[in-house]
Amino acid sequence: MPRNRNGAEVIVVGGGAIGLAIAREVRARGRTVLVLESGRAGSGASWAAAGMLSPLGEALDPGPFLSFGLESLALWPSLAQDLEEESGVAVELRRSGKLRVAFTEPERLRLHRRLEWAREQGVPARWMEPAEVTRAVTGIGPSALGGLLLEDDYRVDNRALSQALLASARKKGAEIRETERVRGVQIDAGRCTGLYLEDGTTLEAGCVVLAAGAWSGRIQGLPVAVPVRPVRGEMVALRPAETPPSLILESESAYLVPRDDGRLLAGATEDEVGFEPGPSASGVHSVLTAAIELMPSLAEARITETWSGFRPGSPDGMPILGAYPEVDDLFLATGHYRNGILLTPATAQSLADLIDGVEPGLLPPEFNPGRVFASAADSIPA
Ligand code: FAD
Ligand code: GLY
Repeated sequence: MPRNRNGAEVIVVGGGAIGLAIAREVRARGRTVLVLESGRAGSGASWAAAGMLSPLGEALDPGPFLSFGLESLALWPSLAQDLEEESGVAVELRRSGKLRVAFTEPERLRLHRRLEWAREQGVPARWMEPAEVTRAVTGIGPSALGGLLLEDDYRVDNRALSQALLASARKKGAEIRETERVRGVQIDAGRCTGLYLEDGTTLEAGCVVLAAGAWSGRIQGLPVAVPVRPVRGEMVALRPAETPPSLILESESAYLVPRDDGRLLAGATEDEVGFEPGPSASGVHSVLTAAIELMPSLAEARITETWSGFRPGSPDGMPILGAYPEVDDLFLATGHYRNGILLTPATAQSLADLIDGVEPGLLPPEFNPGRVFASAADSIPA
């Protein structure tokens, strides 16, 4: 027999970095918030990530992703400080910089093009010739043809981040319920009125935000399911025999992200295998091969952990942020793909603005959910 429980002004589905940060921001602006998380908060992609904050390193061109990424990066230092004060959890935000190393001539040319955009965008970046790369990074692959130094790239401990967001959101008064799986949303006369759980319980809401990461497409009750797919990424943590570089290192096939405790996180595969759990032997093999190519001395490093996670991939690789088309009081915050940790602060602010009915200054129109439903627009009832 379905039961009805009171919900909240805002219900957020999903307790990853995105859902928790939105809940924290919405609560800070005075609304009651409830987060429903099917497992443990922060145990999805936000746990599996490497924690790079690298707008230029991840951009394919100087478009909306790059500008939103730079805006979000600018919000990171104050977010990290506030979170540490509010939660007592150290999130290890470091302006480590990133060195993108070229090993082939086409890679070198592509990196030079990126350097041009960096200059256009006013991002601190410069070219390092091979001799300088070798001096700067002990143990780098000997065939390096130089590298692009992105001086303003940061890293953060993403696992600590979710714990800090959880503690901070709760401290501000957000309610976060774990092991509470949402089955679907309720839509009446073109308005989202709440949602229902696995056991049939319904919860009323002033509005609902879907932030269920790679699982967003499984939420029922929508005119058209959210077109997000899982893209598995496999990672390996290494403890090198010698002190590792403080920079993030990256080639076209691998990245190495330092942690303060001396580990290097090597990643990552991009596997279109649905929700098939990992890591797989071939994934770990390919990550290790690429990591050792980048830094041959890692052949002697100790493996301390392997893991995998599911990135939320959208059809065009860009985030899906904003109102669900033709349904009032239903918002989407998903599809962050490879950059949800970087985009956490700007996403939280933008969604809180939308819920407040304020035009979000930061949000590029290209991220509007309407675009991913465009092909199915005719099937969405008015
Ligand atoms: P998630 O963290 O996956 O959270 C979604 C949550 O929703 C989960 O906790 C899940 O349990 C919950 N949920 C699902 N269904 C339901 C339901 N029906 N009811 C209730 N709850 C539900 N990004 C970066 O910025 N920098 C990086 O260096 C980086 N490296 C990465 C490396 C790897 C290997 C991977 C996999 C990802 C990486 N990313 C990185 C991407 C980043 O991790 C994601 O974009 C980001 O974590 C997405 O956050 P999220 O909160 O949307 O999703
Ligand atoms: N941003 C790094 C990854 O998704 O693997």
